[in-house]
Amino acid sequence: MNLAIEIKGLRKGFGAEGNRIEVIKNLDFSLKNGSFEIIMGQSGSGKSTLLHLMAGLLSPDEGEIIIGNNEISKHNDEKKTIFRRKNIGLIFQDFNLIPTLTAEENVMLPLLLDRKNDNKKAKELLELLGLRDRVHHLPSQLSGGERQRIAIARALVTNPAIVLADEPTGNLDSPAAHELCTLLKKLNKETGCSILMVSHDPVVSAAASKVHVLKDGIIATAFATEDNPHIVSERYLAAIEG
Ligand SMILES: Nc1ncnc2c1ncn2[C@@H]1O[C@H](COP(=O)(O)OP(=O)(O)OP(=O)(O)O)[C@@H](O)[C@H]1O
Ligand SMILES: [Mg+2]
Repeated sequence: MNLAIEIKGLRKGFGAEGNRIEVIKNLDFSLKNGSFEIIMGQSGSGKSTLLHLMAGLLSPDEGEIIIGNNEISKHNDEKKTIFRRKNIGLIFQDFNLIPTLTAEENVMLPLLLDRKNDNKKAKELLELLGLRDRVHHLPSQLSGGERQRIAIARALVTNPAIVLADEPTGNLDSPAAHELCTLLKKLNKETGCSILMVSHDPVVSAAASKVHVLKDGIIATAFATEDNPHIVSERYLAAIEG
């Protein structure tokens, strides 16, 4: 079986001794190539921490993170950065847009860093996300939902093999959230990229094929969604209460 992501015995905590919290505790996880799956979990359960570890933005205390055939936990920072830029599309919970660059420039940033100056793909994505009239706006001139869509376009502009998305629908209303899920599903089918998303919303989660529940520092359970938000909601509540 080909795996996009494989994690073994992962541990990550924060703070000095005496004041330390262990967030990820001996976690195992795998994501098959070409799949679209979700991680759900309560606020503070460590979802963002886990995605940041997968993206190589945080270093684990222990354990292995293998992306494709690369054990990124062993790479130095420079190698991690280049690997991430070429292979991973990241959508952050807080967008991380550059305030002095326009919408289009923000989307093109990953290409410019690789010395590719082709704005065709950026324009296509901005159009697809309903931002054609916002191309030359700065982030401060955009709404929260518009900024989130810019961050999504930026994550997709390099056609990454893996997309890691942290609550990408958190600032969208439900029609826009639904549209984004349809877009991600389409992208997953058409390009074969693997998508791992964090979400609290059962409606959004039902767009994926499988839900993993993060609880007490490990993936406590996983279940198939069967495209049904009610099933997702019931099984998720049972998992976090149980
Ligand atoms: N850099 C850090 N230093 C200290 N504690 C941290 C740090 N980053 C995260 N934490 C703590 O780790 C825990 C998990 O945080 P994380 O952001 O991963 O949660 P989350 O599941 O993404 O929550 P939310 O759904 O609210 O976004 C929290 O208790 C948080 O306070
Ligand atoms: Mg988070």
